[in-house]
Amino acid sequence: MDAKTRQHIEDTFLEVSRAATRKKLYGLRAEQDGETQLARLFRAIAVSEEAQACRLLLQLRGQTGKNAQNCQTAFAEEIPDLISRYEQAAETAKNGGEKAMHSAFSQSAKVQRKHLSLKKKLEKNSAMETPYHVCGFCGFVMEGNTPDNCPICSAPASRFKEV
Ligand SMILES: [Fe+2]
Repeated sequence: MDAKTRQHIEDTFLEVSRAATRKKLYGLRAEQDGETQLARLFRAIAVSEEAQACRLLLQLRGQTGKNAQNCQTAFAEEIPDLISRYEQAAETAKNGGEKAMHSAFSQSAKVQRKHLSLKKKLEKNSAMETPYHVCGFCGFVMEGNTPDNCPICSAPASRFKEV
């Protein structure tokens, strides 16, 4: 693949990924305002844009490899990098007196650390079969049953989605 096309793919991937997240938020807002059909449309576009982002990533050969390589990338590189980024951002927010952002960044760091512990659990018991539930507010992942409240952000059980 030529370098320019590759750059287009990388740039578009980032943009469409951001756009998909925005559409999810627009959908929530429309839902809150009672515009149910508009909310459905935003959610549908979000799913569409996520599919487009996946398709673009697939075109970048080498971005997804075999499971062992993907685990190395995800659990030894990407997640530790995100934890470190969130921790630095939390510190900056704390020093700047930004309480809400300090809390949000700190919670996200905890959420990412949990991902590492979930992977360790899976390594110890590769035959395990359990659903995961994800908090729709902070992203906390809980194995097994849904908690009454999110242990990270206190969101109610209704905010959790089973994966
Ligand atoms: Fe949460």
